[in-house]
Amino acid sequence: MEFATKSAVAFAQENAVRFVEELKELLRIPSISTDPERAGDVRLAAGFVAVELRRIGMDNVRLIETTSATHPDGHPLVYADYLRADGVGGRPAATVLLYGHYDVQPPDPLDEWKSPPFEPTERDGNLYARGAVDDKGQMWMHVKALESLFAANGGKLPVNVRVIVEGEEEVGGEGIAAFVREHPEQLAADVALVSDTEMFAPDLPTLCVGLRGMIYTEIEARGARTDLHSGMYGGAAPNPFVALAQMIAKLKHEDGRILVPGFYDTVAKPSDAELAAWKALPFDEEEYRKTEVGSTALTGEAGYSVLERTWARPTLDVHGMPGGFTGAGAKTVIPARAVAKVSMRLVPEQTPAESFALYKGYVESICPTGITVEVRLIHAGDPIVVSTDNPYVQAATEAMHTVFGKETVYVRGGGSIPIVGDFIRELKIPTLLMGFGLPDDNLHAPNEKFHLANFHRGIESIVRFLASLGS
Ligand code: BES
Ligand code: MN
Ligand code: MN
Repeated sequence: MEFATKSAVAFAQENAVRFVEELKELLRIPSISTDPERAGDVRLAAGFVAVELRRIGMDNVRLIETTSATHPDGHPLVYADYLRADGVGGRPAATVLLYGHYDVQPPDPLDEWKSPPFEPTERDGNLYARGAVDDKGQMWMHVKALESLFAANGGKLPVNVRVIVEGEEEVGGEGIAAFVREHPEQLAADVALVSDTEMFAPDLPTLCVGLRGMIYTEIEARGARTDLHSGMYGGAAPNPFVALAQMIAKLKHEDGRILVPGFYDTVAKPSDAELAAWKALPFDEEEYRKTEVGSTALTGEAGYSVLERTWARPTLDVHGMPGGFTGAGAKTVIPARAVAKVSMRLVPEQTPAESFALYKGYVESICPTGITVEVRLIHAGDPIVVSTDNPYVQAATEAMHTVFGKETVYVRGGGSIPIVGDFIRELKIPTLLMGFGLPDDNLHAPNEKFHLANFHRGIESIVRFLASLGS
């Protein structure tokens, strides 16, 4: 087995250039899951992944159609498995569930990209493109690790593997959640491996052990029966944008506290040991303000460090307010309706259902006179913490130690990966969040990139992790 690990790593090194060229091909497909006009491209990306899984030697490769309340014509899942691994010492082989997503966020604002988002470009050891690190590049590490293991082992893998790649992660992942609920046996495994998070700092191998959950909502305010001339009616007719601004101002205090009554009742405090470990991480809040955020000041709750605020405290953000007049120049109109897209990040032990109920009730209670308000839930996901008390964490830690030569740090992430909660709840398996992004990779922003050294080190880490489970 040691020999096979070495030759799998050697295979990955010898084929490093080809691996990147293939990834570029995938990155050229604009699989933007939220954009109905890109549904064809989303499907193309799914097909691309399926063809490659079949080529490297995976079995039962297929697209699984999805449907959910939010996305009736959902984007397909890509499934593949290899369940023929020899056991070790009389024990049956373990089964690892590899998860990733092939959909991406919209690329706008386009004019801020130094090279076009769907023309992957290498600069200074980085690969720039929408989806480079989130998550096509990281998902591709899984595929290339499997290919390397197949190549070094005469067409066999050291462990059983199931692969599930989704196309709706960036829009809430309701399709895969429904599939996991209805067919848990089709994803039966001992552990899930997810590469869709970041390393805490360059060269610092990282396991992410917690993610925030979220509720993504729309508040729609309606005033007059139709758009009105703002001179003729201004002063007498209610303005839904002003109403939204007034309501939003009552959602969050200047000090960062969410003002929805009862919202914090179930928030759990991280353990003293976890807080102490966070304090010991190499992190400078002033440096973070300057280089990562690039603002004149940071906001948030006093008395909490930035890591606590982004990992262990809930927050509320407004993403956009569609409606009314946003064209060039001026138009004097009182719009009849306005919408605000508002999301909240949740932390353990908050639940999406209860948090949404509290929020909806509160928004309805603060709606100004003359306005009717509708509060809609777009999608939701549970906050999670994953246990570190299992042999898989140990194996992953050792694999990364070999590759990076440093001790692994355990962190949480402020982002959300909705399916991880379903893996824990429905499949009842631990999840390893072993990501190779960097804090400055510009996820969801212009000039998203993947540090190519991390792409290759990620492949090697996954090769070593999977190989170690089979020895
Ligand atoms: N990969 C991210 C989540 C992430 C990023 C976790 C960095 C930890 C560190 C994922 O693709 C993502 O962006 N998720 C969305 C989920 C939402 C749309 C339900 C998010 O967090 O906004
Ligand atoms: Mn992602
Ligand atoms: Mn994302």
